[in-house]
Parts: sequence; C-alpha cells; structure tokens
Amino acid sequence: MTLAEQIRDDFPILHQEINGKPLIYLDSAATSQKPRFVLDTLRDYYERYNANVHRGAHTLSTKATDAYEAARDKVAAFINAKSRNEIVYTRNASEAINLVAYSWGMNNLKPGDEIILSVMEHHSNLVPWQFVAQKTGATLKYVGLTSEQTLDIQEFKNLLSTNTKLVAIVHVSNTLGCTNPVTEICQLAHQSGAKVLIDACQSVPHMPINVQEIDCDWLVASGHKMCAPTGIGFLYGKEEILTEMPPFLGGGEMIADVYLEHSTYAELPHKFEAGTPAIGEAIALGAAVDYLTKIGMDRIHAYEAELTSYLFQQLAKIPDIHLYGPLPDAKGEGRAALASFNVGKIHASDLSALLDQEGVAIRSGHHCTQPLHRYIQASGSARASLSFYNTHREIDMFIHALKDTVDFFTSMM
Ligand SMILES: Cc1ncc(COP(=O)(O)O)c(C=O)c1O
Repeated sequence: MTLAEQIRDDFPILHQEINGKPLIYLDSAATSQKPRFVLDTLRDYYERYNANVHRGAHTLSTKATDAYEAARDKVAAFINAKSRNEIVYTRNASEAINLVAYSWGMNNLKPGDEIILSVMEHHSNLVPWQFVAQKTGATLKYVGLTSEQTLDIQEFKNLLSTNTKLVAIVHVSNTLGCTNPVTEICQLAHQSGAKVLIDACQSVPHMPINVQEIDCDWLVASGHKMCAPTGIGFLYGKEEILTEMPPFLGGGEMIADVYLEHSTYAELPHKFEAGTPAIGEAIALGAAVDYLTKIGMDRIHAYEAELTSYLFQQLAKIPDIHLYGPLPDAKGEGRAALASFNVGKIHASDLSALLDQEGVAIRSGHHCTQPLHRYIQASGSARASLSFYNTHREIDMFIHALKDTVDFFTSMM
C-alpha cells in the first residue's frame, strides 16, 4: 500500500465528485487539504474550551493558553528551532515577511545598502522589499536563472558584496519547483555580513526542515499549505535578532506596561503578537505538525519524489508541452512535486477550466510570480501541484483528461 492509500481516508474533502467526476485535487501548492484530525482539533477548541489567551485566570482561558503555547513548542521542534521564543505566530507567510520588512528592514537599511532577491520570488517576498527600498533608499538586486531554470548561484556570488545587508530568497519555487541551496546561500551571505530570510512556504510541507542546520536568520511559512487552517502562519527568527527588532504592530498582548505617553513591550515572542490571535487556528497548526510528524517528513518527501518522477514521465507524453523549471532525476529528486507548463498555444486558463469539467483542480495564471513569468517569457502557465495524499491513479486520470482537453483545443485551431 502506498502512503496515499494509507492516509487518504483522513481527508474528507477528497471523497467527493466535482461536475459528476471524482475530485482530483492538484492544487496543494496554493493550499493543502486538511486531515480530519486537524479539523477535529479546531472544532474541539471551539466546542469545549474557546476562551481568550494570556488574559483570564479562569479554567477555559488557562486551557486555551496552554494549548496555544504547546502548539508553539510543536512548531519549534518541527523546524528544530533552538528556542520556543524564536517562533512568532502570524496570519500567514506574507505577514511574517512584512513583519521583518517593517520591523527590521525599515529600521536598519539606508541608501547604498543592497537587498538581494531572485527573479523567482513570490510577490509576498518581493513587494514588501519594494516598500522598504522605496522608504529607505536601499537598492534591490535580482539573481536570475541558469539555462535549466534554476537559481544562478554564480550570479548570486557576483552580486554579493559588503553592501549586501539582506538576502531574501525562496527555498522551493512555487512555479519552477527548483530547490535553492539555502544552506550555502546563508554561509556565503553571512561571510559578507548580510542577513538571510528564507521563504519556506513550499518546503516546510514537503521535506524535513532544520533551521539550525540552514543557519538562516529568519524563515517563514504558512499553516494552510501544511495541512493547517488558513489564518495562521509563523515567523522563525534567531532569538538575538528578534530581541533587537522593535514591535511591528501595537496593541494588547504585546505590551509589558502602558502609560499615556509610552509603553514597554512584552518578552519574545509575544512582543510581535498584538491583539487576540488566531487561537484555534494556532492550536490546529500544532495538530497539523503532529499529523505530519507522525507520518514522518522523510517518508512524505520520498513518496512525493516518486510521485513527481511519475508525473513528469506522463507529462512528457503530451505533444507540444512546455515544462518550466528543472527536470527531476530518476528518483524524482531535484525538484518539488509540482509541474508548471503550457501546451502549444492553448491558454492556461482555458486548460484549467476544461479540466475542471473533468473534476481535475489545477491552477492557472501567474501563481503570484509575475516577474518570473516575464523573465521566462510566458504570459502565464498551468500548474499541477501534488501532496502526499495524491495517488498514481490520480495522475493517470489527470493525464488522460489533459490529453482529451489538448485534443479538443487542437481540433478547434
Ligand atoms: C513560495 C511562496 N511564498 C509565499 C507565499 C505566500 O503565502 P501566503 O499567501 O499564505 O502568505 C506562497 C503562497 O502561494 C508561496 O508559494
């Protein structure tokens, strides 16, 4: 039995028909589906101990606070953070990047300083740095791609200098699927005196992550891509750096003492968590971490690699297909479990609309990487993205539907 066959019943949403056909969900890079264990944890919080955290001395509030903080411990252990103080809950990865941009970027950068990004960044790891550059006078520099459409590490080395103050880079590209050498990037950047932020949205759900080994200064991820609900994500930051950073948002929870003229702030990590947080969602994020840990991230990664290899073998049979990013090796390694592509002159959104009629959910458009699409000279692309709950049979059905769809459009042209 494959991993997907073993755990598929954990995901109620997968067992339904769309347009009279069995749902084939191939859009996990946009958001993952949620196992019953996570859904039950969320429901249990609202049904049995819904209360605000860190405020009341009553039983429900204590219980909610304990569960909320226990989830933080789980996230810290999941990515091997040194301390629970290094995990700040945010709404999502975008908010986590904005937190670093506003709190650290706006206060530490000046004209002449440089921020290195890559052309494959998601808009979430691009627009906040544009804000920072516009406000501080710092300059944005972009690393391009190799001919295999992977990060050009040589160009990165050429751009790196003592002017570089920050490198903000995606771990796994949500469009190209390439995995960037983040440990090497951190080592090189630190040698130049720069800090590094890793956008780990597409890696944390699919492989073991060890922030101490990577040695990044910050790392961000979104809960909803890792089997948790929407509305919860996290920022990891080295404790000494977070300690130096001023608060991002002001309000309740993040203070020590408030006077009419000024305030003092709470200790880490609460200094960065203003207002009532997404309590149930954070607790459910802890449940998602438990669920993924129980399966094992090594096992998830190995199964998804095998699935990736199969997906690419099958996609290669589609005439006139153009795949983006590096190809997987024989074991499916070397790229993420997603494929962005175009077929002939067929518009990606037409492809996905017709596939939806067959119950197949894929994404089309620019996947929040417009500059990358311009760089690779594509107005958009279709994207099929996998998770460990997908099966080989689903890939067969997707390929079958894709062939039919392509035949249909070709006959019309
Ligand atoms: C690589 C990458 N970075 C950042 C994000 C932004 O995540 P969110 O919208 O949850 O903040 C995404 C979401 O698609 C992503 O794939």
